[in-house]
Parts: sequence; structure tokens; C-alpha cells
Amino acid sequence: MDFIAFRMLFFFMNGIQFTVGQVTITTTPAVIESEITKSLVVTCRFPPQPSSGYQVFSLALKKLLANSTLEQLASIHRDSHSIVHIDSPSYGMSRGNGVIDSTLGSFLTLEWLNPKVSESGTYQCKANVFNHADDIFVFNENKTVTFTQPSVGSLTHMLLELESEMNNKLQKLENVFKNLTAQSTQTENELQKLENDFKNLTAQSTQTENKLQKLETKLHDLESTIFKTSTVLNGHQYYLSLYEPHSAVNAEMACEALGGYLAEVDDKNEFDFLKTLIGAPAAHGQSFLLGGTDEGHEGRWVNRHSGTPLGYTSWLQGTPDNNLFNGLTENCQTILYIASVNDFVMNDLSCFNSNIETIKFYFICEVPI
Ligand SMILES: *[C@@H]1O[C@H](CO)[C@@H](O)[C@H](O)[C@H]1NC(C)=O
Ligand SMILES: *[C@@H]1O[C@H](CO)[C@@H](O)[C@H](O)[C@H]1NC(C)=O
Ligand SMILES: *[C@@H]1O[C@H](CO)[C@@H](O)[C@H](O)[C@H]1NC(C)=O
Ligand SMILES: *[C@@H]1O[C@H](CO)[C@@H](O)[C@H](O)[C@H]1NC(C)=O
Repeated sequence: MDFIAFRMLFFFMNGIQFTVGQVTITTTPAVIESEITKSLVVTCRFPPQPSSGYQVFSLALKKLLANSTLEQLASIHRDSHSIVHIDSPSYGMSRGNGVIDSTLGSFLTLEWLNPKVSESGTYQCKANVFNHADDIFVFNENKTVTFTQPSVGSLTHMLLELESEMNNKLQKLENVFKNLTAQSTQTENELQKLENDFKNLTAQSTQTENKLQKLETKLHDLESTIFKTSTVLNGHQYYLSLYEPHSAVNAEMACEALGGYLAEVDDKNEFDFLKTLIGAPAAHGQSFLLGGTDEGHEGRWVNRHSGTPLGYTSWLQGTPDNNLFNGLTENCQTILYIASVNDFVMNDLSCFNSNIETIKFYFICEVPI
């Protein structure tokens, strides 16, 4: 075969090879969704083509600029030992990854975290290869990444995750409300509004973060309409209820919703701290439920949550007396201010709240933080 014929055959073979083995560029994803897409990966590949004998000597990733020029972003060369050279770094771009290997295939990858509108546009993968005859071939392939506002679908997906988290919180607070007897119409309306906002939120596609922020604030406000909160003592925070519970069980559930339990007084220091927290309402002789109970084991007082014996007690003289009241025995520990002794003491009361204003009880939660 003469040289010309050889070249012709070769180009014929090239033609075949060209169709089965061209360079490929993939972008994952193909569409950047504003604030939703976590990463953009652009990969340039030149698959192994054993029958053609193509040897890759470099791969490059380029970006088409507004003025129609191609800017080289990164490249990798056969002699660079798998080290990607970044020609034009941009915000959020990773170091890049790649390899030149004509037997196993060559590739060059770039990744951007939290891609923005600036990462949209047309990318080009360019491969410089040569054959046994040292003829040089240049292959390229383009792919365009677009940018959109998030679709309702992906926003919904994101919201669903947030929703279940927020829903849990709302549900718990709602239960606390329902189970507290003295609900003001004002707070009930607030809860209703909060729920409406929340439903509305899930159906919307913009300003999501702002709205969530506001919801968090509202939840916090709501919490502070139900409880007066203390500073932190030994890693615990105390919540003084501003509403009366139906019963000790309901109060304990409300405390659980906050991530805690009815306050367990371990020592005098903690007792003194609670006195200070109660402060002003004490003047009205209000009682506040604590964690102690002897329900089901009369006379043996234990903490409802921990099951441990009471750490510190300061019972009013003559109590606990298990006094019958309204046909109910007194099995729940409370703290109250007694004017005649000018101090706070502990007393046993019924575990079910009374309709009588003067002997209603509130409660104190203890929440590890
Ligand atoms: C195209 O734009 C880039 C960046 O803005 C610039 O560096 C380059 O010189 C421009 N090329 C031409 C041909 O105008
Ligand atoms: C890719 O885009 C560049 C710049 O617009 C162009 O020169 C080239 O021919 C395109 N390549 C392919 C395979 O379409
Ligand atoms: C829900 O959102 C839309 C659009 O922001 C607003 O017009 C509408 O008043 C909202 N509805 C409620 C119940 O908040
Ligand atoms: C509220 O009370 C109901 C009925 O007494 C009970 O089923 C529910 O578990 C209670 N939830 C909370 C959080 O107190």
C-alpha cells in the first residue's frame, strides 16, 4: 500500500472512530436552580479507543464568554501526572480532578459549590489527541447550563423537609395551648395566624428564608406568651407557666414539649433560684407544680420524670398531709409563698387543677440546654 492510500485508509478509519469515540461533556445538573442547587459538576471525557490508537495529550474545559471568546478554565496534560491546572479560578470552584489515560479513558472534572447565575452558560470540552502517525486531532463538544428560579417541585421538596421540622414544633406548642385551660383569645388568634402563614408558606416559591425566619420569631414570641423563662442555672433553664394546666400530667407534657420535665429541686441553691424566678406572682399566693409526686405510693415522694427521691424539701409545717380536697387526695408537690412565714415553702396539692381561683396551680418546667 502506498503512502497516499495509507493516509486515505487512515482518514476513513478516523471517520468511523470520530462517530463512535468523540469527546463528551456532561453537566450535572443541566439547570442551576437559584439557591437550591448544591453543586455543579462539569466533566469532560475522552473514552478509550483502542482500535484507533488515539493518544490524548491534553483535555481542557472552557467557558464561552459574552463576547463569544472561549476562556480556558482548566486543563490537564499527559505529562502533568494527573494534576489539573486551573487557568481561570472562579468563586466556589473546586481544585479540579482528572487523569490522562488512553487505555482506561481520560477525563477532567470541575465542580462549583452553591453555583450562582455566573456558573450558567456554555461550557466546552476540548481534547487534543494524536495517532500513531503523529497527526493531531482536536475534538470539542459544548454543553449549556441554564439558570432558573427554583421550580415549585424542588421548592416543595425543600419545604417538605423544613415543614416536618416546623410542624413538629407547631404541633407541640399547639398541644400545650390546647391543654392549658386559660387561653386568651389573643394568643389563640396568634396561633391561628401562625398556622395560616405556615400553610401559605408551603404554597409559595419566593422569599422562603425570610418567612421561615419570621416564623421562628413568632414561635419564640408564642413561647414567651406561655412561659416566663429564667436564666441558666447549672446547664438548666426554667420555664414558669403563665397559664394553668388541667392536671399535673398535662403540665408534664407541656414541659416535654419544651424538651424538659416538671422542675426537680435537687438542692437549696436550686430552690432559692426558683423563688427568685417566681418573684412577684408569689404575692398572690399562687402555687406552682414541681416534679414531686406520691401518686400510687402514698407517703413515698419521688420525682415524676426521674423516678428519684426528692433531693431537697422544704415542706410547709404539717405537710405533706394528703388532705382530702374536692374528694381528691393531694399527691402533687407544689411551691408557694406563705405570707405568715414570709417565705416560699413546699406543699402537697391535688394533681388536678381546681376551678377555685385562690388555689389554682401553675407549673415550672426544667429544661436541660
Ligand atoms: C472578551 O471578554 C474577556 C473578559 O471580559 C476579555 O478578557 C477578552 O479580552 C475579550 N475578548 C475580546 C476578543 O474582546
Ligand atoms: C462549541 O462552541 C464553540 C464556540 O461557539 C464553537 O466554535 C464550536 O464549533 C462548538 N462545537 C461544537 C461541537 O458544536
Ligand atoms: C398568602 O400569600 C399571599 C402572597 O404573598 C398573600 O397575598 C396572602 O394574603 C397570604 N395569605 C395569608 C392567609 O396570609
Ligand atoms: C393534651 O391532653 C390530651 C387529652 O387530655 C392528651 O391526649 C394529650 O396527649 C395532651 N397533650 C399535651 C401535649 O399535653
